[in-house]
Amino acid sequence: MDEDDFVKMVEDLQKKIEYEEEATYSQTVIREYRNPSNFGMIENPDAFGEVKGPCGDTIKISLRIEDRKIRDACFWTDGCGATIACGSMLTKMMKGETLEEAADITSEKLINALGGLPEEHLHCSKLAVNTLRKAIK
Ligand code: FES
Repeated sequence: MDEDDFVKMVEDLQKKIEYEEEATYSQTVIREYRNPSNFGMIENPDAFGEVKGPCGDTIKISLRIEDRKIRDACFWTDGCGATIACGSMLTKMMKGETLEEAADITSEKLINALGGLPEEHLHCSKLAVNTLRKAIK
């Protein structure tokens, strides 16, 4: 195999992966996990939650709180692409909310905001929401 063949093989493989992603995930999920918002950790956060799911993946959420409102939020995960999309969307949804409003965000609301999740990744949204609730507590 020469270099041109190798480059073509890699491009074909990339196209196949993208095609399979688009057949499985909503455009919003793909956008959020390819280019996540708020990934990282807030230094000296006012609140912090960490949960490890039954799948073995962990999410951490750190919050900056002023006047009982979430002024800033970051997430970190070693989990799957769906979890990255969940952390990204969830941190966007909670910013500017009061703690009570943020505690009302359910995994169903998060899934709706993402345009749906495949059945086998529904638990990823629960992991994200449980981590937020732990941080709020
Ligand atoms: Fe473990 Fe998504 S959080 S598979």
